[in-house]
Amino acid sequence: MTKSTDLKARKAAAVPNGVGTRGIYVAKAENSELWDVDGRRYIDFAAGIAVLNTGHRHPKVMAAVAQQAEAFTHTCFHVTPYESYVRLAERLNALVPGDFPKKTLFLNSGAEAVENAIKIARYHTKRSAVIAFSGGFHGRTHMTMALTGKVMPYKRGFGPFPAEVYHAEFPQPYRGVTTAQALADLDRLFHGDVDPKSVAAILIEPVQGEGGFNVAPADFLRALRTLCDEHGIVFIADEVQGGIARTGKMFSIEHAGVVPDLMTMAKGLGGGFPLSAVTGRATIMDSAHPGGLGGTYGGNPICIAAAHAVLDVIEAEGLCGKAAQVGQRMRTQLEALAKQLPCIGDVRGLGAMVAFELVKDPKTKEPDPELTAAILAHAERRGLILLSCGTAANVVRLLAPLTIPDAVLEEGLTLLAAAVRDAYGVESARAVA
Ligand SMILES: Cc1ncc(COP(=O)(O)O)c(C=O)c1O
Repeated sequence: MTKSTDLKARKAAAVPNGVGTRGIYVAKAENSELWDVDGRRYIDFAAGIAVLNTGHRHPKVMAAVAQQAEAFTHTCFHVTPYESYVRLAERLNALVPGDFPKKTLFLNSGAEAVENAIKIARYHTKRSAVIAFSGGFHGRTHMTMALTGKVMPYKRGFGPFPAEVYHAEFPQPYRGVTTAQALADLDRLFHGDVDPKSVAAILIEPVQGEGGFNVAPADFLRALRTLCDEHGIVFIADEVQGGIARTGKMFSIEHAGVVPDLMTMAKGLGGGFPLSAVTGRATIMDSAHPGGLGGTYGGNPICIAAAHAVLDVIEAEGLCGKAAQVGQRMRTQLEALAKQLPCIGDVRGLGAMVAFELVKDPKTKEPDPELTAAILAHAERRGLILLSCGTAANVVRLLAPLTIPDAVLEEGLTLLAAAVRDAYGVESARAVA
C-alpha cells in the first residue's frame, strides 16, 4: 500500500463524504510543481483553484509572512487595528477601476466577500432582491448557494435557500445564447418576476469560473451597467476567480471597460493565505452602521502581509503581461488539438483562464462529462493536475500559476495533449464496442 492509498482510506473514514477530494496527497510544492507523499512529481495546472497566481511559496510572499509572524499573528482588526490592513485597503481602492472615492473591507473567503457585498448593497438601497446568472458560482454559504446557478454539486439537498434571489441567462455564444437573448431574459425577469425598483444588486462573474469559463461579452456588461444606472441597482462584479492578474489585467471586468459599484475578490489576493475583500464606492460601502460588517479573522495580519507581497510581485514580475502570454500559448496548443479531435467543441477564456469544452458530437454539442473525467484521470497518471468545470461537468480548465517557467508550461501542455488523446482513444473505442 502506498502512502497515498493509505491516506485515501483514512480520509474516507475521518472526513465527511461531502468534502470531495482528488487522490493526490501533497507533501511539498514549489512555484508550478508539487510532489505527493509517495515522491511523485506533478505539474500544477490547478493552482489551488486560481489561488496561486504567484505560484506556490513565492519567496517574497514567504518572506513577508515570516516577517509578520515575528511581529504579531492576530489581534482582530476590530479590537486592536494595524496599519497594514489600512494600507492594503488604500492599495485596492487605487487598483479597482472607478474614478471615485472607494473603500475596502477584508474577510476570509470568496463566499464571505459575496455575502458582505450583498449585505452592503441591500443596506444601501433598502431593497431586497438580487439578480445572479445561470451557471454562476458564488460560494457554499446559504446566501451564496442561493446566488449560485449550478445545482450539482453545490445546491442539491441543501435548501431551502434565502428568498428574493433571481437568475437570468448568462450569454454563451457556443450554446447559442447571444447578448440580445440574455438581455431579453432579464427583461422577462423584470416584467414577470421582480420589479427592477425592488432589486438591490446585480451580481455577475465577468468570466464565469465553475460555470465553464464563459466570458461575458463587453456589450452585455455595458448593458447591465446601463440597467443598473437606470434603476438604482448596485452592480457587483465577482472577481474571486477571474481577478488578481489572472486574465491579463488586474481584474477581468477591465477588458470590457465597465466600472462596477462593488467588487469581490479572494483567491489570488492572498497568494495561498485565506483573504478576501469587497472594494467599492465609498458612498455605498459606508452605508452600514459600525459593527455591522467584519468578523474575528477578516484581514488577518499574516494574510494581509501575503497580499501586499502578491501585489508587489504582480507589478515587479509583470504578471498581467505573463498571463496574456501563458494564455496565448495554451490557446494555440488547444486550438491545434481541436482541429484534430472532434471531441473538443470549443476553446475559450480570457488571458490565462483557458478552457476547452468536450462534446460527444460537434454538431449536436451534447456534453461529454465522461470523457472530461477520463482526461483528468489520464492527466493525473501522467503527472499533470487539471480541473473540470461547467454546469454539465464537460469543460477542462487550465489555471497554471502565472509564474510558471516556459519549460514547465511546455511540459504540461505536452502531457495535456497526450492525456486528451489517451482518453479520447479509450473513450471512442469504448463507444464503438
Ligand atoms: C467566482 C467565485 N465566487 C465565489 C467563490 C467562493 O469562494 P470561496 O470558495 O473562497 O468561498 C468562488 C470559488 O470558487 C468563485 O469562483
